[in-house]
Amino acid sequence: MKNVVPTRIVAFITSLMLMSLPVVGFSQSDAAAIKYRRAVMKGQAGHLGAMFGIVKGGAGRASDLSAHARALHELTGMIESAFKQDTMGGKTRAKSKIWDDYEAFKAKAAAADKASGGIVQAVQSGDQDAIGKALGAMGKACKACHKKYRKKKQ
Ligand code: HEC
Repeated sequence: MKNVVPTRIVAFITSLMLMSLPVVGFSQSDAAAIKYRRAVMKGQAGHLGAMFGIVKGGAGRASDLSAHARALHELTGMIESAFKQDTMGGKTRAKSKIWDDYEAFKAKAAAADKASGGIVQAVQSGDQDAIGKALGAMGKACKACHKKYRKKKQ
């Protein structure tokens, strides 16, 4: 099929699209960035809590462990980008030292991502001991970061 739509029209439509879409990522307000990263955190707590509910409480279905594990793993992979924007104003418990040394913060995020990957593997193995251990290790990775980078509740 050859150039059915005149180039002029294509250019016009493209310019409309560029006007309505941010070209270089979405520009974030601080409030949106804070809300987003807190939502990512709450999602992690939700999936981790659900897994503990299945393993310890006998709730839900064991067959859903895998979906929770993978969802948690996806979310831990988002921590780094969720905190990229240095935002200290607003409703946040994040400590400013996150952005004093972002590489060190990223290392904590990477450790959490590794721990959640460990849960995915343990669930795949079906070994209950391994699953329990992996969940415990995850809890420690979450706490390690909170201890250093999250302010205590006031
Ligand atoms: C690399 C650091 C880091 C890791 C890893 C981390 N967190 Fe967080 N988390 C934070 C920081 C910082 C905040 C405070 C964010 C804010 O208030 O802006 C937070 C906030 C939270 C909150 C409160 C959200 C709200 O309502 O404001 C929950 C719940 C939470 N984290 C759960 C978890 C769980 C569960 C894990 C592990 C699966 C985890 N976090 C791993 C740094 C981390």
